[in-house]
Amino acid sequence: MSMLLDVQNLESWYGPIKAMQGVNLTVSAGQIVAVLGANGAGKTTLLNTLAGVLDPFKGKIRFDGTETQGLDADAIARRGLVLVPEGRQVYPFLSVADNLTMGAYARRDKRVAQDRAQVLDWFPRLRERLNQQAGLLSGGEQQMLAIGRAWMSGPKLLMLDEPSLGLSPLLMREIFGIIARIRQETGVAVLVVEQNAAVALNHADFGYIMELGRVVAADSCEALKAKDDVRDAYLGVAGHGSSGTAQRWKRKRNWR
Ligand SMILES: Nc1ncnc2c1ncn2[C@@H]1O[C@H](COP(=O)(O)OP(=O)(O)OP(=O)(O)O)[C@@H](O)[C@H]1O
Ligand SMILES: [Mg+2]
Repeated sequence: MSMLLDVQNLESWYGPIKAMQGVNLTVSAGQIVAVLGANGAGKTTLLNTLAGVLDPFKGKIRFDGTETQGLDADAIARRGLVLVPEGRQVYPFLSVADNLTMGAYARRDKRVAQDRAQVLDWFPRLRERLNQQAGLLSGGEQQMLAIGRAWMSGPKLLMLDEPSLGLSPLLMREIFGIIARIRQETGVAVLVVEQNAAVALNHADFGYIMELGRVVAADSCEALKAKDDVRDAYLGVAGHGSSGTAQRWKRKRNWR
């Protein structure tokens, strides 16, 4: 598989606060890659830096053959590195149909109608609500619309920041089912940040775990699921040798 995204030694700051450092990460064509980590670990910072919302202080981002660090967000999205931000951010006063149209505003090719039909096939609920204001959709439907709108911009790599946040377990599975279908039917790669580690590790091929702005583990999801530290910290399963929650959290993790 060819390398689609290659991130080297990436570092980002918010003013005086270093939020992410030394991050190396790759995504191959057609791969689903998950990024896990506690609140404040730097996951959103990573995606925002890749999307050009935030300029890195250091490091290289190579996407689909060109270096994209320092380019503005529009230029990066036009190359096919597209972010669905945390909290959905659909245009609340526009209809579902117009939100989808907005996703395609920068495109010059003739496949827009085809992509719109594709989105409505993946998300039949959006078809039923095409003329409804986006702000009146449920949380799950807004997430579907946000993914659909991102699809309309023609991604080669779709980045999703916590797509299941605030959703019921049923909707969570539905959203991840569609993510798997998008990859299977189109071969587009996905980089997904997710709080629900179990769901993410069950749907992705490869995973990264971040802590305090750094990548502390990177492995296939199968291997990550088998690590005691991952099971303890993210899957809510006690590893052997730990008795009681307090002790488990205090234990030094080495991520092996
Ligand atoms: N706009 C900002 N200004 C200053 N510091 C920020 C800003 N956004 C994030 N940070 C800090 O950067 C660090 C990483 O934050 P980030 O939002 O990337 O974490 P996260 O892993 O996405 O967390 P969550 O799971 O809560 O979404 C945190 O320490 C956070 O407080
Ligand atoms: Mg975040």
